[in-house]
Amino acid sequence: MTQSTPMAPNSLSQLTLTRPDDWHLHVRDAQALAAVVPHTAAQFARAIIMPNLSTPVTTTEQALAYRERILASVPKGVRFEPLMTLYLTDTLAPTEIERAHQSGHVVACKLYPQGATTNSDKGVTSIEKIYPVLEAMQKTGTKLLVHGEVTDPDVDVFDREAVFIDRHLEPLRKRFPALKIVFEHITTQNAVQYVKSADQNLAATLTAHHLLFNRNALFKGGMRPHYYCLPVLKKEVHRLALVEAATSGDPRFFLGTDSAPHAAHLKEHAQACAGCYTAFGAMSMYAEIFERLGRLDRLEGFASHFGPDFYELPRNTDHLTLVKAPWVLPESFAYGDALLKPLMGGETLAWQTRLGA
Ligand code: DOR
Ligand code: ZN
Repeated sequence: MTQSTPMAPNSLSQLTLTRPDDWHLHVRDAQALAAVVPHTAAQFARAIIMPNLSTPVTTTEQALAYRERILASVPKGVRFEPLMTLYLTDTLAPTEIERAHQSGHVVACKLYPQGATTNSDKGVTSIEKIYPVLEAMQKTGTKLLVHGEVTDPDVDVFDREAVFIDRHLEPLRKRFPALKIVFEHITTQNAVQYVKSADQNLAATLTAHHLLFNRNALFKGGMRPHYYCLPVLKKEVHRLALVEAATSGDPRFFLGTDSAPHAAHLKEHAQACAGCYTAFGAMSMYAEIFERLGRLDRLEGFASHFGPDFYELPRNTDHLTLVKAPWVLPESFAYGDALLKPLMGGETLAWQTRLGA
């Protein structure tokens, strides 16, 4: 990290970081790609691409074809590499893991408990069923990415992450101690404590929206569907634990936006889709949080170093500069024939980003 002004970390006017990566991202498919991929590529060098398309990405062949479609949406002159994932189902063959590994482009598999979230209806019904696949992943070094919520309707929606740890994550880690697992988009103090107490094979990603907002944001002045995501926003005590973890310098906590675009008319709906679109202003949002804590000097580790280190990939060698210059996040973008409304649209953010060599 280089600083252009010799001031305390919390009063910088400009901050140059190793270019960051987004370790959890949804870009959808078809027309949506052209709308959202440039937003991510303007900041991040790489992103872990979630496989929950309406037809999930369950084969290496599908992942490679999807990768090409994403690359076709990257603006000329911008370096951006999609890191692909497969969607785990009850019936995925362990041989597919070997094939995926050999491709050189699939780095992880995503475990969605069936019914947990958007396009998870083909997800896993019981983790025991995928033990042979997890065995193959452990052998090949393929990372396991977990949507850590139980789907049991008897469990309160705000407790589903905490219950998942005891019921599923702990037994899973005991059975596959060498499997590297990312507990995605954690939202609770329980998850922070669990990751801290675990060994170096468990890490967690943190979204900008879970760091910035608590569940009050969902109801301020009326129902606010653009703040609805899964896992749902939690109480302030949990948000504070997440902020502390993100800004602590502990390498097991790193950046994953979980930016999840949905057409505005499907968000502003009686049955609103889950997902916050944060890709466009993502690094500005994260900078805002680190600045508030007086920990801007720790942003680079969180955004640019700890992720590649966990995934055993090289750190980027190019840079992203954050400039302190207030700007207003656009209220909407074209999204195919629809509109896409970013979280915090119309609001002022303090930091602008510029790509550099
Ligand atoms: O809020 C969410 N949106 N959480 C997820 O787990 C999935 C995502 C999506 O795909 O829309
Ligand atoms: Zn996600």
